[in-house]
Amino acid sequence: MYTDKVMDHFTNPRNVGEIKNASGIGEVGNAKCGDIMRIYLDVENDIIRDVKFKTFGCGAAIATSSMVTELVKGKNLDEALKISNEAVAEALDGLPPAKMHCSNLAADALHEAIKDYMQKKGK
Ligand code: FES
Ligand code: FES
Repeated sequence: MYTDKVMDHFTNPRNVGEIKNASGIGEVGNAKCGDIMRIYLDVENDIIRDVKFKTFGCGAAIATSSMVTELVKGKNLDEALKISNEAVAEALDGLPPAKMHCSNLAADALHEAIKDYMQKKGK
């Protein structure tokens, strides 16, 4: 049911944790099931230098957020804002349809973290 890439990122997730004094933090949740995703960014000159995540979500949420962190590290904010949940799922060679909403958590938390950074910067 899950691709090798999903299993790899689920069993060996990248960039788990938090960043102290993060430049931006994004948190999204699904009130119905209680799943929560938080993404921390360290931004310098509009480049994402570091990114970490924490989630109370399922295996697919762990895999998608792990993949999101790999996709955005080193990218500038405009590029990072364009990363959609479909792009995350594609990078994992696909997700089962019933699990696509979990990739929304990862992409939405990323976008919220970028917005948080921009607000703090007054942009
Ligand atoms: Fe909560 Fe999927 S069941 S986000
Ligand atoms: Fe809740 Fe995937 S994050 S089912």
